Amino acid sequence: MQTYDAVVLGAGAAGLMAAMRAGQRGRRVLVLDHAPQAGSKILISGGGRCNFTNTGTTPERFFSANPHFCKSALKRYTPADFLALVEKHRIAWHEKTLGQLFCDGSSRQIVAMLLAECAAVGVELRLGHRITDVARADAFTVTTDRGVFSAPALVLATGGLSIPKMGATGLSLDIARRFGLALTETRPALVPLTFDGALLELMRPLSGLAVPAVARAGRHRFPEAVLFTHRGLSGPAILQVSSAWKPGEAIALDLLPGQDVQALLVEKKQSRHKAEPRTVLGEVLPARLAQALAAAWLPDAPMARQTDRDLRRVGQTLSHWSLTPAGTEGYAKAEVMLGGVDTAGLSSRSMAAEAVPGLHVIGEAVDVTGWLGGYNFQWAWASGWAAGDSV
Ligand code: FDA
Repeated sequence: MQTYDAVVLGAGAAGLMAAMRAGQRGRRVLVLDHAPQAGSKILISGGGRCNFTNTGTTPERFFSANPHFCKSALKRYTPADFLALVEKHRIAWHEKTLGQLFCDGSSRQIVAMLLAECAAVGVELRLGHRITDVARADAFTVTTDRGVFSAPALVLATGGLSIPKMGATGLSLDIARRFGLALTETRPALVPLTFDGALLELMRPLSGLAVPAVARAGRHRFPEAVLFTHRGLSGPAILQVSSAWKPGEAIALDLLPGQDVQALLVEKKQSRHKAEPRTVLGEVLPARLAQALAAAWLPDAPMARQTDRDLRRVGQTLSHWSLTPAGTEGYAKAEVMLGGVDTAGLSSRSMAAEAVPGLHVIGEAVDVTGWLGGYNFQWAWASGWAAGDSV
């Protein structure tokens, strides 16, 4: 049996950051992962360019049963701290929109940077190890198909359940549960929404069309693009709203934000009385969408023959289209998992389980889930730093 000061399960974003920080503090650290390469999700993130942080990071950009939990870690390891590391490694970057920072080159640079930092402080990385058991007596013992490892500190950093075909598992959740930690309900998030029945019939032919809109769920409001798909809706506004949506509830779309559409349509009845509704709608919406909505929502007649009541109803619907999704495209398409290890049992300073000395949980496995736009990596870095600073 080989012994260390800390064993980290998962060589992803949070695990590598925790190992790096613990190594910098002189700890002997082992990182174990079942995958053949480290940082698989970093590699595919941001379309291969890794949206590695967001300069607008605030606790309000995260979902959690306890919205205060993330504050301490996010304050101690900030987007500026990660950017300093990126610049130290001379990785060129750019800001896309809304504070989202991406590599100019490739996500590979971020993985290479983390691996170089870990190597520089003597972190041992063992990939391709299948973890078969974790036990705790005086220390934690991790049994794998290629050896047994022990340490007084164990960091659970195997991420969430999204993209199982890339090797995502619920290992951290299972171990946490076995050690008596509570979990919050988990579900796919940052995920396309699916529809059925008449709504799907309306949406499917529009597949591939993107429109600027505001998507709403509960008190959350996301002004970004909405994309029609052959199963329903996607695009950044929908991915964002999916995290706030609960099965069975409706979301709302404003397809013409900032416009008084009811007044506009009633006015067009006078000024464009011979025009077809699809033509009038086509002046403010893409032609394909205008045609589909006019056909679904209004009688087939020129504007002059439409009733004010119908035009106002359509105007109201365009500004507040209430839609109840049938579901989501699930973990196969979700960027993240919502929920996880309940923060009530963790220290917000060190990510340590209050009831199990030495056990830490970080990254996506914790019930802290960021918005789209670099927030999830910032949480991985910050929670990883917090644990690495403590083990
Ligand atoms: P992560 O998933 O990074 O790491 C977990 C590690 O544990 C992996 O190396 C895995 O192999 C290992 N593991 C899992 N099960 C195991 C087991 N049973 N035994 C051993 N090892 C195991 N976020 C963002 O901020 N900006 C972005 O641009 C993107 N883009 C993006 C694109 C796509 C397609 C996805 C799916 C996700 C994103 N994300 C993102 C989200 C981001 O990737 C995610 O939130 C972080 O990687 C989470 O970091 P963790 O370290 O917690 O888990």
